[in-house]
Amino acid sequence: MSKLWGGRFQKPTAELVRKFNDSLPFDVRLVDEDIRGSMAWARGLVGAGVLTPHEAQTLVDGLAQVQQEFTAGQFAFAPGDEDVHTAVERRLTEIVGAVGGKLHTGRSRNDQVATDFRLWVMGAVDALLLHVAHLQEALIASAEANLHTPMPGYTHLQHAQPVTWGHWILSHFWPLQRDTVRLVGVRDMASELPLGSAALAGTAYPVDREFLARELGFTGVSQNSLDAVSNRDFAADFLYAAALIGLHLSRLSEQLILFSSSEFGFVRLDDAYSTGSSLMPQKKNPDTLELTRGKAGRLIGSLTGLLATLKGLPSSYDKDLQEDKEPLFDAFDTLEVVLPVMTAVISTLMLRPERMAAQLEPTLLATDLADYLVKRGVPFREAHHLVGQVVQAGEERGVPLTALALADLQAISLHFGADVLTVFDVATSLASRNVTGGTGPDALQEQVMAAKTAVK
Ligand code: ARG
Repeated sequence: MSKLWGGRFQKPTAELVRKFNDSLPFDVRLVDEDIRGSMAWARGLVGAGVLTPHEAQTLVDGLAQVQQEFTAGQFAFAPGDEDVHTAVERRLTEIVGAVGGKLHTGRSRNDQVATDFRLWVMGAVDALLLHVAHLQEALIASAEANLHTPMPGYTHLQHAQPVTWGHWILSHFWPLQRDTVRLVGVRDMASELPLGSAALAGTAYPVDREFLARELGFTGVSQNSLDAVSNRDFAADFLYAAALIGLHLSRLSEQLILFSSSEFGFVRLDDAYSTGSSLMPQKKNPDTLELTRGKAGRLIGSLTGLLATLKGLPSSYDKDLQEDKEPLFDAFDTLEVVLPVMTAVISTLMLRPERMAAQLEPTLLATDLADYLVKRGVPFREAHHLVGQVVQAGEERGVPLTALALADLQAISLHFGADVLTVFDVATSLASRNVTGGTGPDALQEQVMAAKTAVK
């Protein structure tokens, strides 16, 4: 027996078609999941009265040996091995003899591959959760080390209001926390057992599917066999979660690239995590961050590629579905590198608070000046307009707001008093923003606590 389905054919498959059809080169990656699934199926067949306990044990032992051969790198592929399912069954039958031919009773590769793939996704989610948590911990550590270090905050990439490094870096923590929640949701979505659906109509043997689910760590069983063999929502969910992680990391990368430029100079990348130029001796390039930013495109592409594959597919299995695996493998492999790289970049990042401080020019406090007027009874809209005039006066004279004389301010509004200079203080501005989620010192302490609790 070299093929699973040769019986009704009078001609061998064309070599070109064989290569085109084979998925072994990539789905061999599902070998552990395939063997686990087959072991459970063998046990399930005992309950259904198809196998004796002894036969099932022979199959389970044989599968364990196949597993060992794979782990030891000793598995020899044969020409008829079309995909991982075929390869495992072929080798199993070589090892255990004719009883190996009983394993596939009541099962199809359609419910088999859906089961394997879901198991793989659940494992991949767990691995990614760990990588994300490590990055989150690095972000918290960076925040704590410079929690109250002031820096300019930007909207539209223009000076807006003072914030602190701790607040800024934690703004990249929370997106990852949402990614964590999303990943847990992906695992839930994947955790519905398709096995027992057979090719499309449900297996003809009374297999206890709840038992199979428990054996394999699924939380429930699918309710419609046609849907179960074609449902790849969990795969799209995985890619969406992966694409968003990529997107979040690209935003962090972009901002750090900017902050490490000569113009900003807020941070310096560690030598170990930057690269040089072959031509310009002075160059220190943030390639790690640029690549991370670039990989987001690839992750988004994997998601849209899979969605396009799935669109318009009839329910039940269609071979298009074989295209589902590579984008997920690629997305996982991408994130398995990108996340640790980002963690290392953050852990080794050198801050230059003096460069941040040098950018804290007084117009960043214009809102505080408006708030000063509000406290003296001026309606905010009017205060906004008056401070706009103050800014204009400063620009006309070519001096910072702080250099305007009280008389100049009072020419604009008599609500400006001698105490107005107290407004021109970054620490005062920061201290006033202690609402939950704000950049004020007490709020930041709370935020760090909340972040630590979230990541636990
Ligand atoms: N290699 C196939 C896949 O990855 C397995 C299922 C094949 N089923 C079939 N009826 N040809 O989707």
